[in-house]
Parts: sequence; structure tokens; C-alpha cells
Amino acid sequence: MVLPIYVYGEPVLRKIAQEVDVENTDWKPLVADMFETMYHAGGVGLAAPQIGKDISLFVIDTEPFKESFPDVKLYKGAFINPVITEEWGEDFVFAEGCLSLPNLNEEVTRKSNIRIEYYDENGVFHEQEFDGLAARVIQHEYDHLEGKVFVDHLSAIKKMVLKRSLNDIASGRTHAAYKTVHPKK
Ligand code: NI
Repeated sequence: MVLPIYVYGEPVLRKIAQEVDVENTDWKPLVADMFETMYHAGGVGLAAPQIGKDISLFVIDTEPFKESFPDVKLYKGAFINPVITEEWGEDFVFAEGCLSLPNLNEEVTRKSNIRIEYYDENGVFHEQEFDGLAARVIQHEYDHLEGKVFVDHLSAIKKMVLKRSLNDIASGRTHAAYKTVHPKK
């Protein structure tokens, strides 16, 4: 089922996501819906707060990067109760976008390598290292679970420049090619 995507200005995007019960809950149906929603909207990652749920879960699939970056390491997966335990390496600049910030792309600097602990949708625990674009997408989605969006990483001047675009998104004046939820006026 394709779910509507909550956009910038919605309070749920500012909440700290809650850990979920991995052992006693079947997360596969929600994970399936999140993949479907992400593909429908043309994204490479989607975090639960973006579908209005303040829980610690996100999905990623780097496949769409293949066209522009043929060497990209493909990774598809769900990350439940993830914890990034280490970030290291070079500062890596990349223009990020977000389904909760339609039509906005800005360069964000992040570390190139991460180590992350998480459960998959079958309840299996993983500790894994990522680099390149997979690491980037994970860092971006992980931010969502901490109530952050990528524009929070930009300079004060850059944020000033974007103020109008952000207001347009929050008030529903920005057109997205998918169904969105935005704050009522
Ligand atoms: Ni995002």
C-alpha cells in the first residue's frame, strides 16, 4: 500500500523516534508498505517519521543511483532500531534530496564511512560497515529518526536563502508527484 508522505513542517519529523519491539511484532507488512511508498515516490530511502510514525525504522535501496553512478554498490534493506556506532573517513560532499522536502537539493557534508547495528524485518541482528552512497543514504535516514532533516546541516546563510522554499513546502504550495501530508494553515 502506498502511504502519503509527511513533509517539512509536520511535527512528527521533529520527534525522536521510539525503539520498537523486534521480537514480538511482525514488521514485514510495514516494511513492504514503506518500500512500495518509496518506489512510488522515486526515493532511495524512507524513514518511518516520513509516513507519520515516530518509530525507529527506515528502508533504503540505492538501485536508482546506478544510472548516474555506475560503480555504486547496490544495497537494499530495512533497518530497525538502528544505532550508528561509528563514523569515520573523509568529508564527503553530496547533493541530497528528501521526499519530505520536495524539489529541494542541497550539498551536505558527511563522513564517508559508518558502522551500524540494526535488526532487519526478519528480526535478525546485524553489525555492518557501509561507505559511499549507501552510507550517505543511511546517514540521511538515520537523521530522520533523530528528528533532523538534511537542511539542518546547512549554514545559517543557506537556510535564510531557502526560507521561502521551506515555507512553501510547509504550507503545501510545493507540488510533489506523490500524495503528501502537510500542516494545516
Ligand atoms: Ni529524507
